[in-house]
Amino acid sequence: MILYPHLDVNSEGHLTIGGADTVALAREFGTPAYIMDENALRAQFRTYLTAARTHFGETALPAFASKALCFTEIYRIAAEEGLGIDCVSGGELYTASRANFPAERIHFHGNNKTDADLAMALSMGVGTIVVDNTDELMALDRIAAEKGVVARILLRITPGIDPHTHRAIQTGNVDSKFGNAIVTGAAMAITRLALSLSHVSLGGFHCHVGSQIFDLDPFCDAADIMMRFIADVRRETGYTATDLNLGGGLGVPYTSTDKAIDYAAAIADIAAIVRKKAEALSLPMPRVILEPGRSLVAAAGITLYTVGGVKEIPGFKNYISIDGGMPDNPRYALYQSEYTALIANRAAAPADFIATVAGRCCESGDLIGEGMPIQRPVRGDILAVLTTGAYNYSMASNYNRLPRPPVILVKDGVARVAVRRETFEDLVRLDV
Ligand code: LLP
Repeated sequence: MILYPHLDVNSEGHLTIGGADTVALAREFGTPAYIMDENALRAQFRTYLTAARTHFGETALPAFASKALCFTEIYRIAAEEGLGIDCVSGGELYTASRANFPAERIHFHGNNKTDADLAMALSMGVGTIVVDNTDELMALDRIAAEKGVVARILLRITPGIDPHTHRAIQTGNVDSKFGNAIVTGAAMAITRLALSLSHVSLGGFHCHVGSQIFDLDPFCDAADIMMRFIADVRRETGYTATDLNLGGGLGVPYTSTDKAIDYAAAIADIAAIVRKKAEALSLPMPRVILEPGRSLVAAAGITLYTVGGVKEIPGFKNYISIDGGMPDNPRYALYQSEYTALIANRAAAPADFIATVAGRCCESGDLIGEGMPIQRPVRGDILAVLTTGAYNYSMASNYNRLPRPPVILVKDGVARVAVRRETFEDLVRLDV
C-alpha cells in the first residue's frame, strides 16, 4: 500500500492502481493521463451515503460537490450510487443533464448566478437552488413567476467560522464573498424577504466553512450555530426550516504526514451535535445534506506523466521535468499544495532523490512540488503524482496550448476511457 489501499507495487516493482499496472496504462493511454480507481470511488460514495443515513436519518443526502471533478460518467456513477450533486454553473448543469442525473437531487450553487443560469435550473427542474444574496433572490422570484413555477430554495448563510485552512479556500468567514452573515443581521433579513415572496419556497439553510479541513471543530461549531439560527428564525418568524445543508470540506491525505480521516466517524460526530441541538432547542431533526467534493474523489485518482529529463544544479536544487504541469494540475502554483510523487516503473526503489517536479510550461512557477523525495529518474520513466482525483481535471486549462489529458477509469484491473484525450483539432475547434 502506498498512501491508499488501492495503490500498491507489483512483482515487477511497478505502481498499481486498482490492480492495474500503471506502466502498462501509460503505454496504452499515453501521458499525461488521469487514472481513477472506480471501486475506490464507489466505495467512498457508499461510505458517505451509509454514514449520512445511519447517523442523520434515512432522508440525509450527500450531494457530491462536482466542482471537484466534473464529466458525464462521474455524474452517472453518483446517480447510480444514490448521491445528490452540487452544481455551480450552467456547464455543470448541462453535463449532469447529459448524464440523465435526477434533477430533483441537484443543489444549484454559486455566488453570482446569471438570469440564464437561474432560468436553466428552473427549466431543468433542479430540486434546490441555494440562493446566495438578495439580488439573486429577487431575480429568481421574478424568473420563477415568469415561468409560472415556485422555486425551492435554501439560503446560503455565513456562520462566521475561521477553519484555519489556506486563505484562498476559506469561505465561512463573515467577510466572505459567499452568503449572508448571521452576526450582521443579513441572514435574518434575507430569510424574512424569502418568506415574503410568492415564487420561492424556503426549504432551509446552507453553510460551508472551508476546504481541506482535518479538525472536526469547525464543522461541529457550524452545525451548532446553524441549529441556533434555525431556532432564532422560528422564534422571530414562526417558520421552521426542514433542510440543513452543512457543505463540504473534510480533508484528504496528500502526503504521509497528513492524517487520515475516518469519514464515517466524522459524520457520526457532526450528527451527534445536530441531534443534541435539535433536542435542546425543541426543533425537529432537519433533513441534512452534506456536500463533500475532495473527500469523495481525490484519493481515487492519480496522474501519470513521462519524465523528460533531470537537471541537477549543484548546491541549489534538482529538477525533474515532466510532460504535464500547471495546465493539468494548477494546485501547487495556486496554493502551494503538497503532493506525493514516485517513479511508477521503479516504485519499490528508495525515494532518496530530493527534487522539484517541474511542468513543461514557459514559466518558472509551473511546478507540481518542491523538495519532493522521489526515486532518481531517467528520461522515459513514468512519474506518478498521487491524490489528484479532486480539483485537477476540473481545474485543468489549455495554457501553452497543451491538450488536456484523458480520464481513465480502472475497475478490477480493467481500464476504460471516461474522458478522451484532447487533440490539436479540439484545441482549434472554436477558433474562427
Ligand atoms: N460546497 C460548497 C458550497 C463549496 O464551495 C465547496 C468547495 C464544497 C461544497 C466542496 O468542498 P470540498 O469537500 O471539496 O472541500 N480548488 C480548491 C478547493 C476549492 C473549494 C471550493 N469550494 C483546491 O484545489 O483545493
